[in-house]
Amino acid sequence: SNQFCDAGIGYRESTCGISPSSSSSKLLIKGGTVVNAHQQEIADVYVEDGVIVAVKPNIKVGDDVTLLDATGKYIMPGGIDPHTHLAMEFMGTETIDDFFSGQAAALAGGTTMHIDFVIPVNGSLVAGFEAYERKAKKSCMDYGFHMAITKWDESVSREMEIMVNEKGINSFKFFMAYKGSLMINDELLLQGLKRCKSLGALAMVHAENGDAVFEGQKRMIELGITGPEGHALSRPAVLEGEATARAIRLARFVNTPLYVVHVMSIDAMEEIAKARKSGQKVIGEPVVSGLVLDDSGLWDPDFITAAKYVMSPPIRESGHDKALQAALSTGVLQLVGTDHCVFNSTQKAFGIDDFRKIPNGVNGIEERMHLVWDTMVESGQISVTDYVRITSTEWIFNLYPRKGAILAGSDADIIIFNPNSSFEIRASSHHSRTDTNVFDGRKGKGKVEVTIAGGRVVWQDDELKVVPGSGKYIEMPPFSYLFNGIDKADAKYLSSLQAPVGRFNSAS
Ligand code: URP
Ligand code: ZN
Ligand code: ZN
Ligand code: ZN
Repeated sequence: SNQFCDAGIGYRESTCGISPSSSSSKLLIKGGTVVNAHQQEIADVYVEDGVIVAVKPNIKVGDDVTLLDATGKYIMPGGIDPHTHLAMEFMGTETIDDFFSGQAAALAGGTTMHIDFVIPVNGSLVAGFEAYERKAKKSCMDYGFHMAITKWDESVSREMEIMVNEKGINSFKFFMAYKGSLMINDELLLQGLKRCKSLGALAMVHAENGDAVFEGQKRMIELGITGPEGHALSRPAVLEGEATARAIRLARFVNTPLYVVHVMSIDAMEEIAKARKSGQKVIGEPVVSGLVLDDSGLWDPDFITAAKYVMSPPIRESGHDKALQAALSTGVLQLVGTDHCVFNSTQKAFGIDDFRKIPNGVNGIEERMHLVWDTMVESGQISVTDYVRITSTEWIFNLYPRKGAILAGSDADIIIFNPNSSFEIRASSHHSRTDTNVFDGRKGKGKVEVTIAGGRVVWQDDELKVVPGSGKYIEMPPFSYLFNGIDKADAKYLSSLQAPVGRFNSAS
């Protein structure tokens, strides 16, 4: 039968893949190399009721415990994808992976938690949050939320506080592009940055100059360039660099940390590098498509083939990919997301006569762990401990040590990874509901052989055993480590103003 009966044929809540035998509440993983962000060691991992109870050599247990042999393999924290869009209404349609199918795909690829972007409903954050709570009821793995801010008034400002203090959201995304729908202006961005700072929430930006993109799109249409290549040509890297620089400077003016999502170009990356070098707290998130692909697919003569690569900011010319990898390996960029936001060929065809109508987004939630391993670890650019930090541990969202760690007391979200096996990506065998895959045909070294989510074996022997409703919402507290020292820097700045301003005032 099918590896996963829901792939492509819709969602059957009551019958799909529920296998009580797999959900023994006690597991012992034996003989593997346990990898955390700071160290690796040969040890056994014992799990009870969804939580890691012990990590040490030669654990002895009774015979009511399910044994998993990890000899010669790595035992690592399940991946955390910090950037996804499941069941998102966008560009006149809705992404085809929902909280069940997208998460099932994630689990098949070794990711056990994702953070999705809540879109407000008519500007209301509370209504948006409630809508996403409903969408996420069918979850089969744990998830958290960021929230987009798309307008500004007293009630948005008030609702941001509710989100942070009552709903477990510690990050807000501002879209500097998508003019006419999600885009905000500098005035709103400034208000938002100030509010984020006072709440201890992380401000995130989609950094492209939306007004200039609008101009660029008009220019392409006037030139008669209506195909998917027009998407890339209309929004060049210079517009990503400009918006990244502007957001960084405004965040410095406010003195609050900034997170730049989907860093796709050298231009944006170099702005981040420069700011970090000067001591500013800026986080840069590349996504898998930007790390491993170039723009050549956008020129494919077949519309559907080309349209599957359309995302924003666009996938860049060859060279940006390698530069982003190098930036990740040297710590200029800190963690890898996917921006998993998938539309099928029928939806992509909305833009057959006009690239501006192609729904923006590519896949990656299932492929991220394998592609980052192959591209970064197999190539020698990063270590295995770096891999765990970049794909899972990064402390930014305040999830550690509950998530992103193989430690006693951590949630039992675990993968068994065989570095001597191999993977192959196929649209025909992936677990997402979409019918195309931007990584189709890619092969590489390493394979996620087992995924354990919440103490349950959900992926083993290339089979998914996922349970709708078993995933939990994970609240994320504010004031992550990025906020350390902000108040001291503010106090120092204020006292530096006292002396000269006081002298000037008394003299006049
Ligand atoms: O093309 C993209 N990136 N679609 C998802 C929305 C966003 O901008 O992250
Ligand atoms: Zn099934
Ligand atoms: Zn974006
Ligand atoms: Zn996104």
